[in-house]
Amino acid sequence: VTIDAEKRCAAEAAAELVETGMTVGLGTGTTIAHLLPILARRALAIRCVATSPMTERIAREVGLTITALDGIDRLDLAIDGADQVAPDFWLVKGGGGAHTREKIVAVTSERFIVIVDSTKLVDALSPPLPLELAVFGLASTIRRLAGPVQVRPGSFSPDGGALADLDVSLVEPAIVAAQVAAVPGVVAHGLFPPATVSGVFVGHGRSVELLEPRHRSQR
Ligand code: 5RP
Repeated sequence: VTIDAEKRCAAEAAAELVETGMTVGLGTGTTIAHLLPILARRALAIRCVATSPMTERIAREVGLTITALDGIDRLDLAIDGADQVAPDFWLVKGGGGAHTREKIVAVTSERFIVIVDSTKLVDALSPPLPLELAVFGLASTIRRLAGPVQVRPGSFSPDGGALADLDVSLVEPAIVAAQVAAVPGVVAHGLFPPATVSGVFVGHGRSVELLEPRHRSQR
């Protein structure tokens, strides 16, 4: 069984949560690329918000209705991938550079469901931490960050921010998240706290496991 099959199994499980009438946030990445046609095949009357131009393009191609986040009051459900999922449900996201929009969509949604293959489950989070940084004063912002920063060459978010990776220990994610977020010029970092997460579908071979944080956040 391939990693791709695990992604597809997790995507199928998450698609089952979607019901007619819902507003649905769509994440970004190769796992979400599996979700989009599966969701479209269900032919439900739903409106979707995309977190990247790539997701928007694929979603429209498969026939999903995309709407602007500003045009709707609330999202019922958001579904997204992750780069790392820790046992305490801290996530690292942003490998694909879409984490700013993904975080906005995640916290706007009643429920935030993460879909991953089994390689994304880690015992402990490890660097780097993806960042989106304001282009203005980039060198100054980088000097204020708590470790070496690699700017991704020529890589910008759809909102114009520079994408970069911070080499920092993630053993204390809450502390790092607060420190990094406090640096002026940081648009967003890729750490998502457990309180954001409603559940994680993990593909294991041909089966799917649902991991739920104890708080069962109903954001
Ligand atoms: C993009 C993300 C993605 O969800 C994360 O990088 C996982 O991607 P993939 O599904 O391709 O493994 O956070 O910003």
